[in-house]
Amino acid sequence: MAILEIKDLHVRIEDKEILKGVTLTINTNEIHAIMGPNGTGKSTLAAAIMGHPKYEVTSGSILLDGEDVLAMEVDERARAGLFLAMQYPSEITGVTNADFLRSGVNARREEGDEISLMKFIREMDSKMEVLEMEEDMATRYLNEGFSGGEKKRNEILQLMMLKPKFAVLDEIDSGLDIDALKIVSKGINQMRGEGFGCLIITHYQRLLDYITPDHVHIIMQGKIVKTGGPELAKKLEEQGYDWIKEELGIEDETVGQEA
Ligand SMILES: Nc1ncnc2c1ncn2[C@@H]1O[C@H](COP(=O)(O)OP(=O)(O)OP(=O)(O)O)[C@@H](O)[C@H]1O
Ligand SMILES: [Mg+2]
Repeated sequence: MAILEIKDLHVRIEDKEILKGVTLTINTNEIHAIMGPNGTGKSTLAAAIMGHPKYEVTSGSILLDGEDVLAMEVDERARAGLFLAMQYPSEITGVTNADFLRSGVNARREEGDEISLMKFIREMDSKMEVLEMEEDMATRYLNEGFSGGEKKRNEILQLMMLKPKFAVLDEIDSGLDIDALKIVSKGINQMRGEGFGCLIITHYQRLLDYITPDHVHIIMQGKIVKTGGPELAKKLEEQGYDWIKEELGIEDETVGQEA
């Protein structure tokens, strides 16, 4: 069992306060979904959890099993078991996907206990098979020239290889075709269990048709304004966000929803 506790988190980018007090607790064995209009701070929350230097945490705390995550460097956070699948994964020329994965896997292990090349390849091959990825994706440079959907699938390959305690998946479903959506969901569902907790950022119910979340949160204007079960996501799909704004008396300052 592990626990990730985010308490009253305030985050600023340059002079703008984006997160205005986010509180959220995720246990392993739980999948949380977070939904909300564009520009409300979902990716900002993801970036703050992982420690992106541009996002300044002005107050609040993030604890992983009681350890102060905010005091850790990005690589320490990854070693401690945090993982982020980025909304826009970066391309890294000169580093093959396999080398990148192996370094990541070894960084999560004790020094002197590196994974053997054979074992690594066997494991990578089996995960790539689950994700129905072409063999050459392992030897190509990280994300270079990958299609949008291939990048997303590759994020899940990283997830499955690194086996973090907690993963934040930022719009992992965007750009995926219908078959790919099922395949990626299968990969995420395989991770489900005692040692794994997940925060899925998404705009649409369709992903949650395959990955049933335990809890659904709605974020608006930098705060979680509502929490419920899977039915909350279904209601959003049918009715959009207006009813919540009305219920909470929120003025409309955010940009409209994605088409
Ligand atoms: N690096 C940055 N510099 C300036 N403003 C930023 C930066 N990153 C985010 N913002 C602003 O912070 C706000 C929240 O952005 P964020 O990316 O967290 O939204 P989001 O909820 O993930 O939206 P989407 O659903 O479109 O992905 C937006 O108004 C955005 O323009
Ligand atoms: Mg975003």
